[in-house]
Parts: sequence; structure tokens; C-alpha cells
Amino acid sequence: MSETHETMIIQSHKGPYTVHFDEDAIAALDANVGDDEHYIIDNNVAALYGDRLGNVLNAASVLRIDATETNKSLDRMPDYVMHLTSHGVRRDHTLVAIGGGIIQDITCFLAATLMRGMDWKLYPTTLLSQADSCIGSKSSINAGNAKNIVGTFTPPNEVFIATDFLATLNEKDLRSGVGEILKVHAIEGPGAFQDIAADYKQLFTDSSVMARYIRRALTIKLPYIESDEFDKGARNIFNYGHSFGHAIEAATNFGIPHGIGVTMGMDMANFISDKLGIGSRDTFERMHPTLRANYRGYEDLNVPFEPFLTALSKDKKNTGSGKVTLILPDQAAKLSKQVCDASQKFSDSCSEFFETARAG
Ligand SMILES: NC(=O)c1ccc[n+]([C@@H]2O[C@H](COP(=O)([O-])OP(=O)(O)OC[C@H]3O[C@@H](n4cnc5c(N)ncnc54)[C@H](O)[C@@H]3O)[C@@H](O)[C@H]2O)c1
Ligand SMILES: [Zn+2]
Repeated sequence: MSETHETMIIQSHKGPYTVHFDEDAIAALDANVGDDEHYIIDNNVAALYGDRLGNVLNAASVLRIDATETNKSLDRMPDYVMHLTSHGVRRDHTLVAIGGGIIQDITCFLAATLMRGMDWKLYPTTLLSQADSCIGSKSSINAGNAKNIVGTFTPPNEVFIATDFLATLNEKDLRSGVGEILKVHAIEGPGAFQDIAADYKQLFTDSSVMARYIRRALTIKLPYIESDEFDKGARNIFNYGHSFGHAIEAATNFGIPHGIGVTMGMDMANFISDKLGIGSRDTFERMHPTLRANYRGYEDLNVPFEPFLTALSKDKKNTGSGKVTLILPDQAAKLSKQVCDASQKFSDSCSEFFETARAG
């Protein structure tokens, strides 16, 4: 099998599913349009790839959606359900998602709930969705003003990764995906992080280097999602950078792409861990140049401090009051869950981080 046709099999509570690393996936998708398939496609992808997805776009049931958070909300689900029912959807049909995390989350939610569950296939088109969210079963949609608050664990039946799709992504969305790839390599350990840090620039200039790190990120993630699919234990460390990242996203009214917020969140976690005497300054200094490069342009982002702290304390991973649950590196840079007091020292360290990030 050639390098571009590798597969990865993932065990889940619904049985095994396959990830295909397949450069011919776009052509094969368009050549095999079926009457029993309902396509849910990102509007931008439909416009950019219209010439390669002509049969898909002319299929009997095509739901085109703008990839916005508003469209990923519970309020919008009736429109999607109405579209599908008016196009004759049946339980033995398949939903086919073609897009990034937003289209994935919408399709997964529909597949999980429509007629108590249908098959679905996923063609991730953003780097974040190819290197991270496409495996692991999670889906979340927004409700009211709460983001990602309603969801299920429902893996697709198959995932097709065509890195061709990445050619049209803007730099911001590429860096957002790279943030999650950096996170996964940090979880693997300092050696893996060092590898990707050394190749950081080539990620953006050499698609074969990017493809290699996408596969490696999924390979690292695989044992965690298989052993802890429902995120009750070992998988928690994938929240590294996320509590801070979500708080930065929320406090800036989502003025920063998710994976870039996570990159800043990891830098912040390393910084705070040292300040709280859990980790060492070495970890912060070792990773800071790469992390900062990945959130460059956002270091001056105005993160209003009180809303940031409020969002941090409301993070859905935090259960008790006055405590913040974080994934932090220890002295050996190993990541683990820590419950920290939301003390004055903690909030001073947070504000010191923002000053440090701005300074360089
Ligand atoms: N389910 C999960 O496990 C999981 C994990 C992480 C994030 N998410 C969710 O995913 C969403 C973010 O997803 P995302 O970062 O993948 O992007 P996205 O779906 O928000 O898309 C980002 C932008 O890229 C465009 N786009 C998509 N593919 C393109 C392509 N090939 N070329 C050019 N433009 C393209 C979209 O139209 C959009 O403008 C958030 O809602 C987040 O909550 C879900
Ligand atoms: Zn994330």
C-alpha cells in the first residue's frame, strides 16, 4: 500500500471504524455518489472544490451550510432535520460530512439523534479536523449562549483524510490546526515536541511534512481514545491548554481561532505551572519559542482580565467553586490533572503571563 493510502483502525463502543489517508479520496467521493447518501457540506468547500465535487453537489440531497458557530446551534437543527426528511431520509441511509469541525459537529449530532441513530462518514477539510477532531467520537453543538454544551459520543463509520483540501486553508486556520498538533506532541513527551518544533516552518511549506505530522498526531491520540473513549480518565490530558484557551476565546468574544487560543493556553499552563511550584521554568522556556510563533499576531490581543477569570471558573471541566482544574506539566514535563486554588497568586500569575507573552 502506498504512503498515501494508509489506514488506521479505531475501536469504539460502536465497533471499529477506519481512517483512510487517501489522496484520491476527493475523486472517489465524487465518483461514487449514492441515492442513499445525504451530503452535508461546508459552503466554502463547495465553492472552492465545485469542479472536483460536481456529482456530489448535484446529488439528490445536499445540505450546504456556512461554517459559523450560530449554524452549529440547537436552534438550527430543525432546519437541517426538515431538509433531510423532505429529501426522504431513512434509518439505513448515510450522512456524509464534508467540512471542518463545525460541519463535523453538526453531522455527528444529526447522525446520533435522527431516527435514534444513523451511519455517517466524515471527510474533514480543515487541518484541525484532519489532525485532531476526526477521531475520538466527540461532537458538541451550541445552545443558547453556551458553546459546545449539547452533544454525544458518536464516531463516524469511516473517515477519509485528503490533505489536498488543506491547500486552500488560510494561514490562521492552518495555525489553529497546528496548535492542536503541537498539543498532541507535547502530550507524547519532550522528544516528540522537539521533533515538531524543529520542523515547525516546514509544516507550512512542505505538504508531505504536514501529512506526516497529521498521521503522527492521530497515532498518538489513538490509544487514549480507545482506552478512555468517554473522557473520564487518561484522555483528560488532551485538555492541555484548553481551560486557559477556552477562557481566552470566551473573554475575547471568540476573537482568536480555537487552536491558536489553545496554543496560547499551553504556553500559559507551562508558565503558571512553574509559578505554582508544580512544573519547572525549563518547560516554559523550551516550548515558548514554538508556541509563541504559533500564536504570533495574537500576543497583543486584549484579553479583558475579569471576564477571563470568570470564564476560567465556569469552564465545564471545573466542578467545585474556588478551584480550577488544569492540565499542567510537572518537573519532568509530564502532563497531569491538577486542582489549583483560584488564589490571588494564581490570578497574579495569569496576568503576569499576558505581560510576558506581549513582551516576547
Ligand atoms: N468534535 C470535536 O471533537 C471537536 C474538536 C475540536 C473542535 N471542534 C469544533 O470545531 C469547530 C472548529 O472547526 P475547524 O477549526 O475545523 O473549522 P471550521 O469548521 O470552523 O472552519 C473554519 C473555516 O475554514 C473554512 N474551510 C473549511 N475547509 C476549508 C478548506 N479546505 N479550504 C478553505 N476553507 C475551508 C470554513 O468554511 C470556515 O470558514 C468549532 O466549532 C469547535 O468547537 C470540535
Ligand atoms: Zn481543541
